[in-house]
Order: sequence, then C-alpha cells, then structure tokens
Amino acid sequence: MKKILHLISSFRDDASYTIKLGHAIVDRLVEANPGAVVEELNLITENYPHLDAPHFQAFLTPTAELTDLDKEATSYSDKAISQLMDADFIVIGSPFYNFGIHSALKAWIDHIARAGVTFRYTANGPEGLVKGKKVYIALASGGVYGDGPAQAYDFNGPYLKAVLGFLGMTDLQIFRAEGLKVPELQEHSLENAIESISL
Ligand SMILES: Cc1cc2nc3c(=O)[nH]c(=O)nc-3n(C[C@H](O)[C@H](O)[C@H](O)COP(=O)(O)O)c2cc1C
Repeated sequence: MKKILHLISSFRDDASYTIKLGHAIVDRLVEANPGAVVEELNLITENYPHLDAPHFQAFLTPTAELTDLDKEATSYSDKAISQLMDADFIVIGSPFYNFGIHSALKAWIDHIARAGVTFRYTANGPEGLVKGKKVYIALASGGVYGDGPAQAYDFNGPYLKAVLGFLGMTDLQIFRAEGLKVPELQEHSLENAIESISL
C-alpha cells in the first residue's frame, strides 16, 4: 500500500491556496494509487523548534552514547525522518513568504537534514540517502516567479529542489498558483495550477 505524506506550511487554513493545491495533488495521487494512505502533517501547529546547539550536538552523538536529554533533542528529527522514510509520495505546500519558504518548513528541513542518516559524505562527494520518493511542491505566491522578470527572486521552488535533491529526493515537480495579488491573474491562478497537475 502506497503512503502519501502531505506537509502544510500555511497558517491560513481554509483560505490557503497551497493547502487547496496540495489537496488537489493528493486527490490525484489517491486516484492513481487506490487505497493509498494519506498522512497530513501541519508544520504550523506541529511547531518544530529551531535547530540549536543541543539538537545539533545530539545529531553528532553516537546512538549508544545518547543521554535522555539528547534523546529528547533528537525526538523531533527521529519522528520527522521516520514519517519521511515511510512515505512513497511527499506533497509539500509551500507559500511564498518574504521571497522564501515559511520558517516552519525550514525548521522541518533542519530536522530532517542529518549527516549519516539522510545524507552522507563519500569519496565522490555528498550522497542523499532519502531515495525512491516522488515529491510534489504546491507553491503559491502573490507575484509571478515561475518565469518573467521576478524569476531570479524565486528562493522558494529552486531552494526546495536543491535541499531535497541533496537529501536524495531528486524526482520533484513544482506546481504553482502564482499572481494571487495580480488583479488580472488572481481569479484563475488556482484553477490553472490544478489543471497543470500531471503526475
Ligand atoms: C507575510 C507574508 C509575506 C509574503 N511575501 C510574499 C513574497 O515575498 N512574494 C510573493 O509573491 N507573495 C508573498 N506573499 C503572498 C503569499 O505568497 C500568498 O498570499 C499565498 O497565497 C500564501 O500562501 P497560502 O495561500 O497557502 O497561505 C506574502 C504573504 C504574507 C502573508
């Protein structure tokens, strides 16, 4: 049975375009994979802590030497990595906030990027260890960044492609609801994004 992990990083609940677009992607995945199990992870309410010294120190400590405090520090990372490794498909809702991703999504990334667990350094350079996943990004933005003059300011889609690719998730597609603050584009932006979904 296939597993779909749907990450939410918008605080706008029912008004959110990334949540709507993410659901449309999930629906298409379930259609194509009958019986697939969907796990939704709301990063806004889950509130992963910022990476700090105790977390990072615990990441570097061999399992046998972990203290109870270290175990508490790695618990966020352990849970996030286990959910990720379990999934066949990962749908990530990523609103554009101040030219980048929401800090809740960044906090999640900081907990899943763990040397020796999700990537490692080899003689041939870094190797991502999160393999065999298909990743779909549901992106929403007030402006237009997929093409045109603001493309150079897209620090959302290309960033996710780079960091998730580094971890081994190289099969990644981005679907964009763009121009949500542009009067002549906003009306059909979500509809166009949903129509563009091809798995
Ligand atoms: C705090 C904040 C910052 C934003 N920054 C940008 C931005 O830098 N570029 C942009 O195109 N849209 C920006 N927007 C617009 C959002 O990307 C847009 O409202 C989008 O629909 C948010 O996703 P959501 O609907 O899933 O919450 C911003 C919105 C907020 C609330």
